[in-house]
Amino acid sequence: MLGYRHAFHAGGGADVLKHAILVFCLKYLCQKEKAFLYIDTHAGAGSYALAGGYAEQNKEWKTGAAKLMEKTEKTKQSEMSLALYDYLSYIKTPATYPGSPALAQKILRPYDRIVCYEKHPADFLLLREFLSHDCRAEVRNADGFEGLKSLLPPPSRRACVLIDPSYETQDDYKKTVSAVMEALRRFPTGLYLVWHPLFVLDDAGETLRDNLMALYSGNQCRVELITGDKRHAIGTKRGGLYGSGLVIYNPPWTLKAALEETLPFLTRCIGGDHAGGFQWIDRRNPAQ
Ligand SMILES: C[S@@+](CC[C@H](N)C(=O)[O-])C[C@H]1O[C@@H](n2cnc3c(N)ncnc32)[C@H](O)[C@@H]1O
Repeated sequence: MLGYRHAFHAGGGADVLKHAILVFCLKYLCQKEKAFLYIDTHAGAGSYALAGGYAEQNKEWKTGAAKLMEKTEKTKQSEMSLALYDYLSYIKTPATYPGSPALAQKILRPYDRIVCYEKHPADFLLLREFLSHDCRAEVRNADGFEGLKSLLPPPSRRACVLIDPSYETQDDYKKTVSAVMEALRRFPTGLYLVWHPLFVLDDAGETLRDNLMALYSGNQCRVELITGDKRHAIGTKRGGLYGSGLVIYNPPWTLKAALEETLPFLTRCIGGDHAGGFQWIDRRNPAQ
């Protein structure tokens, strides 16, 4: 089923969390000169027009990125976490919102590589057009769950992988776990970010998060941002999202301090009925 279009959700609270952390991780990898590969298994259209397009219908960006921008307008750089400051510097224009491929495109260096998978025919064409002038980037109209393993381990032995399915079908939950297991088996030292939803009436997101946390024995963390009210179901069978999260394998060690600073700030700006949080598991260096 390919009914999902990310344009409806562009710039919402889930994107803010995911993209702020993605920006942090990519910038961290850029601190070392050696090239790396960025893999986006579910890449979307690349960039989204906020006015007049699909994004206009739900206006999710109004309660996410736009609200954050508004609330931080008068905040000095020194009073904001560097992670958010960096993220906001990439979403300055009010007319468009950058998806994950656009952020990677802005951050990666000339000698890094980008491989994006997008299965939806229309979003694939938009993404291909969006990245068409970038010789670092390759866009594949194929299944990202399947394609991921063919890229691992990368020749440079450095990679950041974003696994960001739409979870439209139950199959996506199983495929996410299998793809992550296979990826970690082939390339256990990669930096992986796996996004998951948190639904009001369906605990599939929480179960997936717990399964993902259980399958890796190295350093990892989970991060959640609550953007809605868990007591109030809206619309769909699953009751809508009350938040979202990421499971991150081999996170940059600097991310812990960034999350301590960023999450309370984000919660104050765009948070819902209760605070999100994070859990940091440092198995290789448990004393830290
Ligand atoms: C949540 S959106 C991606 C958003 C994007 N990563 C971002 O942060 O800007 C998920 C995308 O995955 C695509 N998709 C769904 N199943 C897929 C699959 N098996 N392989 C590749 N892409 C898929 C959908 O068409 C949709 O555009």
